[in-house]
Amino acid sequence: MIRTSFTELIGVEHPIVLAGMGGATSPELVAAVSNAGGLGIHGVTSIESSEIVSQVAAIRSKTPRPFGLNLLLHGADEDQVRVVLDAKPEILSTAWPRDNQDLAQLFARAHERGLKVMHMVPGAADAAKAAHAGADVIVAQGTDGGGHIGLMGTIVVVPAVVKEVAPIPVLAAGGIAGGRGLAAALALGAAGVLLGTRFLATTESELHENFKRLIVESDGGDTIVTDIADIFLGVEWPGALERVARNRAVERWLGRTNELRRRREELLPGMREARLKGDPDEAIVYFGQSAALVDDVVPVARVIEDMVAEAEEIVGERLPNLVR
Ligand SMILES: Cc1cc2nc3c(=O)[nH]c(=O)nc-3n(C[C@H](O)[C@H](O)[C@H](O)COP(=O)(O)O)c2cc1C
Repeated sequence: MIRTSFTELIGVEHPIVLAGMGGATSPELVAAVSNAGGLGIHGVTSIESSEIVSQVAAIRSKTPRPFGLNLLLHGADEDQVRVVLDAKPEILSTAWPRDNQDLAQLFARAHERGLKVMHMVPGAADAAKAAHAGADVIVAQGTDGGGHIGLMGTIVVVPAVVKEVAPIPVLAAGGIAGGRGLAAALALGAAGVLLGTRFLATTESELHENFKRLIVESDGGDTIVTDIADIFLGVEWPGALERVARNRAVERWLGRTNELRRRREELLPGMREARLKGDPDEAIVYFGQSAALVDDVVPVARVIEDMVAEAEEIVGERLPNLVR
C-alpha cells in the first residue's frame, strides 16, 4: 500500500489517476479506475451540458467511489461549468486556462459546493498561480505526455512544481505507464501520478481497437509535437502544442499549415470520418511517448495492480538495498 498526501486528501486507495481526456474517457473507464482504487476523471469539455448530467449519472451507477470531471478552461462555456459544479463530483479537474480567466473565482465556486480542485500546469509559474488561486492538488505535466502539452520534460517540471507549491500535493503526468514511473514520480517529490496514454490501451477504454493497437505497437518515437490537429479543428489553444501519432495525415501537412488553414473546412469531414473508421494513417490520434512502455491491452484493474506492486517493490526493496 502506498500512502501519500494525495491518497489521504482524496480518500483513494492508490495514488493513480486517470487523466480526464476529452473525447477519450467514458463513464465505464472512469468507474473502472475508481473501482480499482484509483481516481477516475471524465473529460467533459466536448460534451453538451444536458449530456454531462446523464454521463455523471452513468458513472454513479457504476461506482460509489470518488471521481472527477475535467474541463479545459479555455474551451468550456459557463453552462458547462455550472452543470459540472452542480453535479458535485468529488474533484473538479481543470487545465489550460486563458490568461484572463479568473481561477480564484472558479476554484472558490467549487469549494463552496464541497468539491476539491485539481489543476494541471506545464511549469512552475503556472503552478504558483494555481496555488495562489486555491487549488488543492496540482498536476505537473511534462512534454512527454499525450494530447496538449508544454515544453518542459516531466523529470524537470515535477520537482520544480513540487518546490514551488509545497506542501500542496503534486501529481506527475506525462510519460508514466507503469510502476517504475510511479516510483520515479514519488522520488521526484510527487504524491501520485496521472496517466492518459496507458489507460487508453485498456479493455474498458472506448478508443477504436485500431488506435489501441497503434499505441501497443508504438515505440513512442513515432509521435510528434505539432499544431496540425488544432489547425484542422480550428482551435486556438492557449500556450500548447499537441503530441499525436506521426502518421500519414500528419506528415502530409508538416510545413504546409498555411494551406491546411485555407482548406480546413473542406478537409475536416474526411479527417472526422477517418477517426470514426479507426483509420490509423488518416486520423489524428493523440497519445504520448509512454506508448513505448505499453505492450498489451489489459483491464484497468490489472494496470493498477501491476503498477502498485512494481512501485512497492522498487521503493520498498530495490532502492533501500542501494544504500545499505
Ligand atoms: C487523447 C488525449 C486527450 C486528452 N484530453 C485532455 C483533456 O481534455 N483535458 C486535460 O486536462 N488533459 C487532457 N489530456 C492530457 C492528459 O491530461 C495528461 O496530461 C497526459 O495524457 C499525460 O501523459 P501520458 O499520456 O503520457 O500519460 C489528453 C491526453 C490524451 C492522450
